[in-house]
Amino acid sequence: MVKFTDIKGFIFDLDGVVTDTSRYHAKAWGQLADKLGVDYPGLGDAVKGISRMDALEMILKKGGLENNYSEAEKEALAAEKNANYVNLIQNMSAKDILPGMADFLAELKDKGYGISLASASKNAPKILEKIGLSDYFTKAVDPATLKYGKPDPEIFIKGAQLLDLMPAQCIGLEDAAAGIAGINAAGETSVGIGDPELLHDATINFTDTSQVSLANIEKAMQ
Ligand code: BG6
Ligand code: MG
Repeated sequence: MVKFTDIKGFIFDLDGVVTDTSRYHAKAWGQLADKLGVDYPGLGDAVKGISRMDALEMILKKGGLENNYSEAEKEALAAEKNANYVNLIQNMSAKDILPGMADFLAELKDKGYGISLASASKNAPKILEKIGLSDYFTKAVDPATLKYGKPDPEIFIKGAQLLDLMPAQCIGLEDAAAGIAGINAAGETSVGIGDPELLHDATINFTDTSQVSLANIEKAMQ
């Protein structure tokens, strides 16, 4: 494993790591799946980290509907899910920052670590604004520029480039199995936050965000 002292930057997923928006994505997709008549147990975990159009394709496939809609109709369905989602995040504020994450970000900034954002979400800038953390994430990968979604490493490689660091100097934080796969494939150290069984490929596991600190990461890397 890479040594803790080699680490110079942290690359953050947003939904489910910095703030608890994963449940809103799950709810909004659930509303659309219900409307389409698709029964999808485990939908919430399946869409974690997955881009909007890829998540739609997953749901359509689950219901055997992948050939039922034109591209324009799929765009409309994705827009409908996003409208559901935007409605759910309307009243978000600093109270929606996950436990410990504001302190962790302050600690990183204080100690001079690089910080970048690797979120697949096109709503990320809006959410960061609402929860008051935009100033930490002046370096953010624009998901519209990506050729491939997670689990591809592209977003995490770009997240390191934004910090002028080599992947091996970076730690990526994720709540999604697809995200952990992307971090690992980028050659970075992965921190999985959530169910360790689901995130078994992570280099380091924490069950929730309150455990995320430089001291605990250093301990886990010894
Ligand atoms: C990821 C979420 O962060 O962003 C996924 O984990 C979501 O569930 C994806 O589908 C895309 O988000 P958006 O806001 O662009 O639809
Ligand atoms: Mg996530």
